[in-house]
Amino acid sequence: MGATENGTGTPELKGKRALVTGGTRGIGAGIVRRLLEAGAEVLTTARSSSGTVPEGARFVAADVRSREGAAELAAAAVDVLGGVDILVHNAGGAQPHASALGIPDEEWLDVLDLNLLASVRLDALLAPGMRERGSGAIVHISSAAVPVAFPPFLHYTVAKAGLENYSRGLAAELAPAGVRVNTVTPGRVATPGGEKVREEWARLDPTQAGSESLVPLGRDGLPDDIARAVLFLVSDQASWVTGSNFVIDGGEFPRG
Ligand SMILES: NC(=O)c1ccc[n+]([C@@H]2O[C@H](COP(=O)([O-])OP(=O)(O)OC[C@H]3O[C@@H](n4cnc5c(N)ncnc54)[C@H](OP(=O)(O)O)[C@@H]3O)[C@@H](O)[C@H]2O)c1
Repeated sequence: MGATENGTGTPELKGKRALVTGGTRGIGAGIVRRLLEAGAEVLTTARSSSGTVPEGARFVAADVRSREGAAELAAAAVDVLGGVDILVHNAGGAQPHASALGIPDEEWLDVLDLNLLASVRLDALLAPGMRERGSGAIVHISSAAVPVAFPPFLHYTVAKAGLENYSRGLAAELAPAGVRVNTVTPGRVATPGGEKVREEWARLDPTQAGSESLVPLGRDGLPDDIARAVLFLVSDQASWVTGSNFVIDGGEFPRG
């Protein structure tokens, strides 16, 4: 049994300080709940607290899409928590378009900011503290749509593909310092953001409606399906896991 497991083999995060972006609903809220249950002190962020901040979590409003937003959030995390041992980049998403060629330039930049550069900027601000302390765990949330040709979401899949590549490279850089970096890649998960996007996609392309029947395990994912994988990866149970990409999609998009 590892030092951070309890008698039942559940990961324990007592004494760990975690920052989770986008924790007011959906997958992020599920991750916050799991980390709290495991004993971590958790700070989460969203543009507003109009969603539900899970009980027991601290909250600071921030927009992670800008350099200023990332800097303010990193400063608030150090202020509130005293430092960050666990960093989960969950805030993300994009709206579909009828044509990939019709995605406006500003929207490309916005989607790249939210789904790729927010992680790059926050890591640059918070990973050095982990490196100095000789430990830490970072998780980037990608999308199972990355290897698939989905023109309506091309801005999104390009940003998430970049995130996966970035995550592997950062893992290699930080491994010698004892800091682990992994990616978790969800398929279709029932969340407010996911449902909204799928409704809009079905409106643009009615053949997409009801495609949950394509999930080999027969149902959409739940936020907790993703949160349990994140909990494992940030705990000492995954102490020999870095640079990995944990695809959790009910078997919909097998990767070689
Ligand atoms: N659900 C799926 O089917 C699915 C599939 C594959 C991948 N994913 C990925 O999983 C992650 C979570 O998705 P979800 O479906 O749970 O999303 P969601 O239901 O839309 O929740 C997103 C969370 O992020 C926050 N957020 C959004 N933009 C933000 C910003 N600019 N700055 C700070 N916080 C922001 C939201 O709060 P505010 O709106 O108040 O800011 C909310 O708390 C995303 O990275 C998404 O790409 C989801």
